[in-house]
Amino acid sequence: MVKKLVTTLQKSAKQQVRRFAEFRGIQRQSLNHYQSSVRRLYDGPQGAVLRYSSLLSLHDPLMGQLFRSGRFDASRFETILDVGSGAGQIIRHLLRTTSDATRIVGFDLSAEMLRRARGRLKSDRPSFVAADMMQMPFRDESFDCITCGYVLEHLPDPQPGLAEFSRVLKPRGTILLLATEDSFSGLLTSHTWKCRTFSRNELRVVCGEVGLTWEQELWFTRLHEMLRLGGILVELVKQPLRDPVSQV
Ligand SMILES: C[S@@+](CC[C@H](N)C(=O)[O-])C[C@H]1O[C@@H](n2cnc3c(N)ncnc32)[C@H](O)[C@@H]1O
Repeated sequence: MVKKLVTTLQKSAKQQVRRFAEFRGIQRQSLNHYQSSVRRLYDGPQGAVLRYSSLLSLHDPLMGQLFRSGRFDASRFETILDVGSGAGQIIRHLLRTTSDATRIVGFDLSAEMLRRARGRLKSDRPSFVAADMMQMPFRDESFDCITCGYVLEHLPDPQPGLAEFSRVLKPRGTILLLATEDSFSGLLTSHTWKCRTFSRNELRVVCGEVGLTWEQELWFTRLHEMLRLGGILVELVKQPLRDPVSQV
């Protein structure tokens, strides 16, 4: 009883801190206005140094370790869509850990970021598409895997983005999702990158609503897990629609 009360109080205190400390612009502007500002942010100087800031924050090398160690084994997929490719951080690791036969598509709202990624990767393996993740120009069930690192937090409501993931993913397809958590460092990130944050619980619920099950939570290192750092890293699986006959 007391434990339940303490948990409830902790949750509500966290919600209050988040309400005041998180970047609020995402809720205050219209979607069009907000997305234009995101595009400008990434097209501009902050986007130009993104590849270096990812190295400095260690998230790029730590992500590389996640792929190389096989904790997220990308070599099992034939078609991979990387949503919000940015400076090509994830694609760089995909190129190193998959065979030449694997089809890789880089996708981003900012055509300028994709131009930078193409220049940096120096590979003709990935193809690139610039558009909004809430309306992706791909057929239903096109990909075995989607990787998405620190992008979903640029949507005021994650549901339409996750529903698109579910649509373009094959049944039993996998998603590697990395997202900013509502921790102290996450709240700082929300101001730097004009985005929101998520609690694990709310994200898990929205994923479930669009048929994506939370298969396993991952951590960059043991230390990250102990100190709850690095944000939300999760492997999701698209549940196949149930056969209408067996539902009767
Ligand atoms: C922080 S960067 C992520 C880079 C990389 N994925 C990584 O893990 O480091 C976020 C990227 O998401 C893109 N983005 C933001 N909103 C988007 C949207 N609605 N659709 C597609 N991409 C979006 C931005 O243009 C930016 O390149």
